[in-house]
Amino acid sequence: MTKPALYSAMQPSADSLHLGNYVGALTNWITMQDEFRAVYAVANQHAITVPFEPAELRDRTRATAAQFIAAGIDADRSVLFVQSDVPAHAELTWVLSAITGFGEAGRMTQFKDKSQRHGTDAQNVGLFTYPILMAADILLYQTERVPVGEDQRQHVELTRDLAQRFNARYGETFTVPQAHIVKESAKVYDLQEPTAKMSKSAASDAGLLRVLDDPKVTSKKIMRAVTDADGEIRFDRETKPGVSNLLTIYSVLSGTPIDGLEREYQGRGYGDLKKGLAEVVQSVFAPIRDRANELLGDPAELDRLLARGAEQANELAEGTIADVYERVGF
Ligand code: ADP
Ligand code: NA
Repeated sequence: MTKPALYSAMQPSADSLHLGNYVGALTNWITMQDEFRAVYAVANQHAITVPFEPAELRDRTRATAAQFIAAGIDADRSVLFVQSDVPAHAELTWVLSAITGFGEAGRMTQFKDKSQRHGTDAQNVGLFTYPILMAADILLYQTERVPVGEDQRQHVELTRDLAQRFNARYGETFTVPQAHIVKESAKVYDLQEPTAKMSKSAASDAGLLRVLDDPKVTSKKIMRAVTDADGEIRFDRETKPGVSNLLTIYSVLSGTPIDGLEREYQGRGYGDLKKGLAEVVQSVFAPIRDRANELLGDPAELDRLLARGAEQANELAEGTIADVYERVGF
């Protein structure tokens, strides 16, 4: 029996992935390679819908891909490619935009959020039609499953609507994808502001753990993480968000359940917990950082891997776009 097809993508929006990206997305991508025929993209075409700098975008695209590979996205099992290497994404976006209602696109809440965040001057039609590009991304690969968080669920609904509409109007062409809810994917919080999710857009850098950071910087950030005055190592998200966040991260990265950690650290101080956590984080980040830096220092090898991914993705996508063009009379 063939495995179901899965598609997921991440924007190259920073030089380094952060711990949230790693535990909330990348570890799932790695695991899902067993169960699915996975197609993973570095979504650089999505990245130009908000203010950006070209040279930086190019570097970030390569750095993001290098970290995916370094963490375990395996070119022998999955397709990993850079979105702009596959022209069919833009081609299908155009066709789908012609069957998307203006009001329907206007109901997408992420446009409102993002255009508010970046200001009126940065508002552009690309940001408005972003969900249509995302639908094209998914439908090109005859995707059956799309792993999504809550914030992307509306986009998957639109994708399903567009697939069904196209199929009904022009004939069976697209697989109608389903949202794949990743069970208990961990959410990690900012080390300085442990009620806010760890994010690259945090006001201060001190609460953000980056995969490619110098190990000394990472340890320092962990040792300075906000805790509380009661001194007890116990999980309680409401009254002890800082300590609870440290325990969550420790648990996810070590595989030890939280109650096991509470027992292990019973009667000990926060300094001990932080030292233990720093070691765990280093042991996870170090091999990824080393391999990613190796790839970034050997552009020919990274180029080769991305060219191979692009070739595989193009082969899949070209089959779909050829059908679509035939259907619409091109
Ligand atoms: P950011 O919030 O830094 O802008 P993105 O929105 O680019 O991160 O997220 C990329 C992926 O990483 C998404 O799949 C998202 O769910 C995951 N992710 C980001 N931050 C976290 C976090 N703090 N905890 C868990 N997962 C996260
Ligand atoms: Na974000």
